[in-house]
Amino acid sequence: VSLRPFNTFGIDARARAFLPVETADELRAVRDSDELAALPRLVLGGGSNILLTGDAVDALVLQMRGRGIAIVGETADATLVRAAAGENWHGFVLHTLAHGLPGLENLSLIPGSVGAAPIQNIGAYGSEIGDVFHSLTAFDFDSGELLSLDRAACRFGYRDSVFKHALKDRAVILDVTFALPKRWQPNLAYAELAREIQARGIAAPDAQAVSDAVIAIRQRKLPDPAQIGNAGSFFKNPVVSKEQRDALLAAHPQLVSHLQADGSYKLAAGWLIDQCGWKGRSLGAAGVYEKQALVLVNRGGARGGEIAALARAIQDDVARAYGVMLEPEPVFI
Ligand code: EPU
Repeated sequence: VSLRPFNTFGIDARARAFLPVETADELRAVRDSDELAALPRLVLGGGSNILLTGDAVDALVLQMRGRGIAIVGETADATLVRAAAGENWHGFVLHTLAHGLPGLENLSLIPGSVGAAPIQNIGAYGSEIGDVFHSLTAFDFDSGELLSLDRAACRFGYRDSVFKHALKDRAVILDVTFALPKRWQPNLAYAELAREIQARGIAAPDAQAVSDAVIAIRQRKLPDPAQIGNAGSFFKNPVVSKEQRDALLAAHPQLVSHLQADGSYKLAAGWLIDQCGWKGRSLGAAGVYEKQALVLVNRGGARGGEIAALARAIQDDVARAYGVMLEPEPVFI
């Protein structure tokens, strides 16, 4: 099976075996099958945060397709809404907004599926899913049991969670429940979002207005994977000590950095890459997007290895110029 339709980079790699999955019972059947259980596994949602580096994936690819959205309860402060792993993330966000449930609007238009969202704790425009997360259900391939994980158990960090560590290759997310606030306030902490709302002449934006603004910003600077293959930000924004940031700032007064709660600083990787002259450039069929240097794109027929080679060249240049090693955000397969 070609995985080309199943990864947003549009890399044409062949899977050894491919199985669409909707239910826990189907995962249990895989675990109980001697033949299937012996294969390495690759679990796919929307395929929007992976780079298939080779021309073949020697694994059983499980594509999560379960659908369904429902209100499952409430607390004093929040409405609990559950979505199956196979729901499209942005479709789910729009569904909650259309039903008068705010809370996810800053995360509008992020590609991918609901089930993949907790793995890298998707975040944008001053919000992360960890902020509104309630719990999730996952199938544990080690025990064959269902796991129910609350927010603490997920160990959310910046583009990070337990699913990248202790539960990697082990837990498959089946559904996610969000606690959407009953008393909602817009989160306009991200300066670019506040500016966009202001430019639209909206004094007191509702959640739909915030969503519309986020969509407009994203459409201006991020390529639509349906048109140009990409996986969003290709690198994480590096976090450095105050000392390192101060030294860099002294040498480069234009440096873009943001203070973190723990006193460290997050540097804008897009700025570092841009300064190294990579914006808009290409190596073979792999390119750096013209409008946002943090995004690598498939210019047409790129092989995964070409994207990886471009990423390495960028890492080398940034390390040489700024002494900072950029870490890729997508998972390399
Ligand atoms: N910048 C440049 N040149 C560029 C790109 C950016 O100088 O080519 C500078 C900008 O001027 C700005 C700063 O870098 O001062 C930050 O840029 P931006 O606001 O576009 O955000 P980002 O750091 O590039 C991060 C997330 C995005 C998220 C936005 C908005 C990461 C790795 N990326 O990007 O997430 O949408 O903030 O919150 O944290 C994703 O993960 O796929 C993603 C798109």
